[in-house]
Amino acid sequence: MVVHAVKWTEDLAVGVDVLDNDHRRLVILMNKVIAAFYAGVGSRMVNAAMDELEAYTREHFTREEEMMEGKGYAELESHKEQHGKLIAELARLRAVKSGTEVIPLLYDWLVTHIMKTDKGYSHLFR
Ligand SMILES: [Fe+2]
Repeated sequence: MVVHAVKWTEDLAVGVDVLDNDHRRLVILMNKVIAAFYAGVGSRMVNAAMDELEAYTREHFTREEEMMEGKGYAELESHKEQHGKLIAELARLRAVKSGTEVIPLLYDWLVTHIMKTDKGYSHLFR
């Protein structure tokens, strides 16, 4: 299986420390999912890593939404809707049992969240 760990790069930064730290943590948790697939330790370990990724994603989305609400972000409702879709998408991806197939999809999932959805609010915190 040729897959690579996700690397945090500065172009992923949204410029808000607490949220950038959350995103770094999501990258780490995604790398645990990748490592579980690599290790070939069976679905139990992959499931545990996915559980952790999903739980932290939910926690992060809640924090992000609260912070955006505090800033009176005009796009809050559509951002929440995007979060709902990303959670649903993650649930769908969990059904894919091939690491080769799922890892690039998960990478896109994370990068879409940060690069497309989150870049929209970073101006609020400058
Ligand atoms: Fe985020």
